[in-house]
Amino acid sequence: AVRFSCDEGFVLQGDAESRCLADGAWHPPLPTCRPVQCSRPSGQENLVISSSEDLYNVNDAVLFSCKHDDHQASKSICSANGTWTPPLTCKKRDTCEKILRHREDFQCGIPLTELKTLLEVQKLYLEIQKLEKELKPTTYG
Ligand SMILES: *[C@@H]1O[C@H](CO)[C@@H](O)[C@H](O)[C@H]1NC(C)=O
Repeated sequence: AVRFSCDEGFVLQGDAESRCLADGAWHPPLPTCRPVQCSRPSGQENLVISSSEDLYNVNDAVLFSCKHDDHQASKSICSANGTWTPPLTCKKRDTCEKILRHREDFQCGIPLTELKTLLEVQKLYLEIQKLEKELKPTTYG
């Protein structure tokens, strides 16, 4: 029995082990090593890649940017293991991040807990104003 492996940058196609049978044939058939390739990531609408190929060879480089990231371009290289370094991904702009980005604007030098109380008071004030407006017609009408 013989075991096979491929050099870095290559991937085994077929079985990693084969046996020499009595009739002189290898079973299963001998594998081959094919070059590793990186595929173009899909399903990321914010990701902009400079090239339009679907497959890339090891050490190929692409420029990529993220639509919401002021289009600042970064370089990524296809690694010998078939992944992109750095990864071709755009950070998701989730709700938490949006809130955190505006946190400083909200804070105005006031601790967040105090601000929360102030906002509650403001809300209460607006509610009272609304109630007063609703009551006026019956009071004076
Ligand atoms: C692939 O190779 C790159 C560069 O050597 C390395 O940073 C990354 O962690 C590797 N990824 C995996 C899944 O092995």
